[in-house]
Amino acid sequence: MLSLLLLSCAVAQAYAISPLSWEQAYTIANTTVANLTTSEKLGIVHGVGQFSSRCVGDTTAVERLGLPSLCMNDGPAGVRLTNGVTGFPPGINAASTFSRRLMNARGVALGQEYRGKGVNVYLGPTMDLSRNPKGGRNWESFGPDPYLSGEAAYETVTGVQSVGVMACAKHYLANQQEHWRYGLDSIIDDRTTHEMYHYPFLRAIEADVSSVMCAYNRVNGTSTCHNADLIGANGLLRNDGFKGFVVSDWGATHDSATDNANAGLDMEQPGDWILIGGGVYSPGLQSALGDGSVTEETLNGMVSHILAPWYRLGQDSDYPSPNFDVQNPDGSGDLNENVNVRTDATTALVREIAAASTVLLKNNRTDTSRGLPVDASTVKKVAIIGQDAIMPRKDCGSGATYGLNQCNEGTMSIGWGSGSNSLEFIVPPVDAISEVVNGTATVTTSLSNDIDDAKKAAAGQDVCFVLANAMSGELGFYFVVEGNMGDRNDLDLWYKGGSMIEAVASVCSNTIAIVHSVGPVSFSWSEHPNITAIIYAGAPGEQTGPGLADVLFGARNPSGRLPFSIADNEDDYGTEIIYNSDGFPEIEYTEALLLDYRYMDSQGITPRYEFGYGLSYTTFEYADFSVAASGDGQSISFTVANTGDVAGTEIPQLYLGFPEGAGEPPRLLRGFEEVALEAGASSQVEMALTARDLSIWDTVSQSWVRPSGTYKVYVGASINDVRLEGSF
Ligand SMILES: *[C@@H]1O[C@H](CO)[C@@H](O)[C@H](O)[C@H]1NC(C)=O
Ligand SMILES: *[C@@H]1O[C@H](CO)[C@@H](O)[C@H](O)[C@H]1NC(C)=O
Ligand SMILES: *[C@@H]1O[C@H](CO)[C@@H](O)[C@H](O)[C@H]1NC(C)=O
Ligand SMILES: *[C@@H]1O[C@H](CO)[C@@H](O)[C@H](O)[C@H]1NC(C)=O
Ligand SMILES: *[C@@H]1O[C@H](CO)[C@@H](O)[C@H](O)[C@H]1NC(C)=O
Ligand SMILES: *[C@@H]1O[C@H](CO)[C@@H](O)[C@H](O)[C@H]1NC(C)=O
Repeated sequence: MLSLLLLSCAVAQAYAISPLSWEQAYTIANTTVANLTTSEKLGIVHGVGQFSSRCVGDTTAVERLGLPSLCMNDGPAGVRLTNGVTGFPPGINAASTFSRRLMNARGVALGQEYRGKGVNVYLGPTMDLSRNPKGGRNWESFGPDPYLSGEAAYETVTGVQSVGVMACAKHYLANQQEHWRYGLDSIIDDRTTHEMYHYPFLRAIEADVSSVMCAYNRVNGTSTCHNADLIGANGLLRNDGFKGFVVSDWGATHDSATDNANAGLDMEQPGDWILIGGGVYSPGLQSALGDGSVTEETLNGMVSHILAPWYRLGQDSDYPSPNFDVQNPDGSGDLNENVNVRTDATTALVREIAAASTVLLKNNRTDTSRGLPVDASTVKKVAIIGQDAIMPRKDCGSGATYGLNQCNEGTMSIGWGSGSNSLEFIVPPVDAISEVVNGTATVTTSLSNDIDDAKKAAAGQDVCFVLANAMSGELGFYFVVEGNMGDRNDLDLWYKGGSMIEAVASVCSNTIAIVHSVGPVSFSWSEHPNITAIIYAGAPGEQTGPGLADVLFGARNPSGRLPFSIADNEDDYGTEIIYNSDGFPEIEYTEALLLDYRYMDSQGITPRYEFGYGLSYTTFEYADFSVAASGDGQSISFTVANTGDVAGTEIPQLYLGFPEGAGEPPRLLRGFEEVALEAGASSQVEMALTARDLSIWDTVSQSWVRPSGTYKVYVGASINDVRLEGSF
């Protein structure tokens, strides 16, 4: 908060564009294509090289026709490899808000910063489902549930593109673990593909997403970037109406130019060979045109796919050029203009998302001096404990590993790898908490994870905030962090965080445990009677400290919900990461539709904290349930009342039970709403179930089909806290 005041903010940017129809955009794109020479077309369909580009990916400009070099940049949680930008909360915390409003606002704010830096393509959102809780990049995306992920993908794409920036949905398809990712082969049946892993991409297509990034791995034996069943003219994406371009993940072209172009790959990035693959379109595509194995017509289609979304979003008029240079991420060099694209409004928004994604797991408020919220005006002795409270190390990497945040020293606000973001303006918890009680309480700190020191600091305090974390990230050649090669090795808190929390609780009867993590961790200590409150804060981005303090001291009533289940054993999730293999493994997705709560539900496993769970400082009651047919869908209505003493936000959720014999898991998320209520107020909530929401993917007819029979509807505060139910 002190640091917030020190920000010098750029002018507020408010853009809103009116997109063309796809038809209009293609008409213009086709005309341009007809005017391009073959070599100009070739320059548009591949990058210029990893070490000669000012963005993470760039194409070659055709100046005589006003076509700029397209600038594509990581993402997805803020513009990477530059300064003067916001470190946004990553996808998993956007999901944790269960708020379409905040998901969309995050997208708009991201889009404004990409536009302000002159980026044409935002390389996000990441929407790979978290198949196993230890998957290294899970935090980039929106968790294991396809419906929640689909809504988050839709809102993010809509928000980003509303300011004229092209979004790039990734990684298509079945990119669920880091070990062996450059060639592992995911074997997934058709129904599972449609209902699970493809579903968020379907929602991105419905948001008119401009591009899709194919992945490093194979699906059914064929690299995704050369897999016509996925990306071809009659593949899954195009059949669902995808109109933009397919771009390879960086170096994910493992086959020839002919293979990739004929399968549907429109653009290769970064253009050159980068150890894991790449460099096939230049010069391979020219030779393929020469020998006729790729036709000029195919090339024309590739270029149209790239230019149409560019025209559609109005990037042909008044779009800023890149003003930064990823080759000099510190802002040095002739190309960096050091434009500060931050705004006060965006800082306030990411603080709000940090707070709104905070999940209150336990609050044993036997009296007002115990548990949460802490009254800053009466508390006298406060301890802040744990390395996770402090300013993170910002320089763990240089050269090719710069800006990847591949270390975990200090507070964990985002994972490592290309999906990480800028820590330039991060406000750590210790600063934000200290500031709230500055002048009214004495603050004792123990900011290592040393257990003896932690106990010393905790003894005799009114309240002990103890922070611990777990982290994961992207696998690269050099990103092994504390022995974790991208995917986590286990579900433990790092640096003996669980033991530290228990040690603090053994001497402090008002211990508030705060966990920052990329996904589920062990909470074996949660029942300790001296642990009065537990906060799961996830990976909150740069306003981590202020967002947390807002919840701890009651400025914001927590409303975050778990976007996954937290179970005690990894076995409770029913999937595994393949760590050891003799060469690239085949991974069969035999669990099919049964991820996370769907698996636990089907096995009768009650997790420690279930999907959708999260407490509030107030209480809510549900009533007046009704279900009615509405067109070819159903309309559900009920009221939610705030029956406590303070204002708060409830997140009612709708779970659907399909007719018996439909082959679906027992209950599936099919609706959620954010309902803000003053104390004593109530509100009517409507949720619509569309025909597709009521359907399964029918492999015979290759369409969504509604099974006949009785459906059950469960409405409540989490999957295991059902308050209303009915059937139709
Ligand atoms: C654009 O060209 C493609 C062939 O590359 C064609 O299929 C499509 O119908 C054209 N669209 C418009 C709107 O002209
Ligand atoms: C080239 O572009 C112009 C508009 O700039 C257009 O009128 C013309 O039809 C295009 N040429 C071809 C061969 O399509
Ligand atoms: C992969 O193979 C399975 C089994 O044959 C099939 O059901 C599925 O549709 C295939 N997926 C794709 C994307 O081709
Ligand atoms: C406490 O407040 C004083 C006076 O405003 C200020 O100088 C100091 O930096 C603050 N300390 C913290 C930890 O916020
Ligand atoms: C709880 O904390 C008190 C110190 O306030 C300590 O005496 C007691 O042993 C602790 N209880 C447990 C179960 O550790
Ligand atoms: C809640 O606090 C009371 C009073 O200290 C204690 O007896 C009880 O065990 C605690 N419950 C939990 C679940 O920690």
